[in-house]
Amino acid sequence: MKGRILQVLRERSNSVSGEELGRQVGASRASVSQHILALRKHGYMIESSCGGYRLVCSPDLLLPFEFPDMEHRIHYYPEIGSTMDPARELARRGAEQGTIVVAEAQTHGRGRLSREWLSPKGGIYFTVILRPEVEPAYAPLANLMASVAVAVTIRRLYGLKAAVKWPNDVLVRGRKVCGILAEMESGTDAVKFINVGIGINANTAVPGFSETATSLKEVLGRDISRQKFLRALILEIERRRNSLLDADVLNEWRGLSSTLSNDVKIAAADEVIVGRAVDIDDTGSLIVREMDGSLRKVAAGDCSQ
Ligand code: BTN
Repeated sequence: MKGRILQVLRERSNSVSGEELGRQVGASRASVSQHILALRKHGYMIESSCGGYRLVCSPDLLLPFEFPDMEHRIHYYPEIGSTMDPARELARRGAEQGTIVVAEAQTHGRGRLSREWLSPKGGIYFTVILRPEVEPAYAPLANLMASVAVAVTIRRLYGLKAAVKWPNDVLVRGRKVCGILAEMESGTDAVKFINVGIGINANTAVPGFSETATSLKEVLGRDISRQKFLRALILEIERRRNSLLDADVLNEWRGLSSTLSNDVKIAAADEVIVGRAVDIDDTGSLIVREMDGSLRKVAAGDCSQ
C-alpha cells in the first residue's frame, strides 16, 4: 500500500487529495492518512494542505515498499547483528530462492575468515538466498557470479572500471568496494541453499588509515542512490543465478578479473602459495603457476596481488 501511495504522489508535481489518493490505491481516506503518518516516521517529507498531500522528498532507505515488484521477498531491518543470521533461518525453513534480508546497518557484520565487516549506515548490506541445482563442489561459482553482478552494476550505473578479485571481492581503482561472504548447507550431492551476503561501501566514509578500501561515494565524490543500486544489482544476480554452470559466468569473471595474469600470494588453510594466476577452473578454483612451473588449483584462501 505504501509503495502504491508513493507511486501516485511521485507521478504528480501538485497535491493529491486524500480522497483521490484513496481511490487510486483502493483504500479509505483514513487508511491513507495512517500510511502517510507511517511514511513521515520513516523520513518521507509529505506536505499536507487543503489541496491534499504532496511528496517533497524521500529518504534513500532500502524499505521493501520501495521495491514493489520484489516487496514480498524482502525482509528489512533498520539495524541487525548480521543479515546472514535471519537469512539462514529463513533458508532452513524453506524460503524461496531470491528471498533477501537487508539492513541499513549491522552491529556484528561478518567477513570472510572470521573477520569483522564494519557496517555503518550508508552502506548496502544484504543476503540473498540462492538454491542452485548444483553439486556442493560448484558452490564457489555463486561467489564468482555475485562479484560479477556487482562489478557489472557499478560499471553500468557509474561508468567506473570495477574489477573482480579472486575469490570474491570487487575493486574500484585497485581498492575494495565490496565484499562477499557465502554460507552453504548441502546434502551429500546437492546444495540445499547458498546464502550470499554482499556488503557494498556505498555512501560510507572510508577510514583515513585504509589503503586497501574505498567507497563509491569516495570515488564519485557524491552520494549514490542506494535504492537504484540495490534494484539494479538484484536484477543482475537474478539474470545469472540459474545458470551458474554455464561458461558465461566464468567468462564474464575472466573478462573482469584483476587477478588473472598477476603474481599472487595466497594464504590457504595450512600453506602459502606463490605464483602467477593463470585461470580459474569450472568450480571457481584459481589455477596458479608456481615458481617451478607446476600448476596448482587453489579452492580457497586469502589472496594478495
Ligand atoms: C569479506 O570481504 O570478508 C566479506 C564481507 C561480507 C559482508 C556482507 S554484509 C551483508 C552480509 N552480512 C554479513 O554479516 N556479512 C555479509
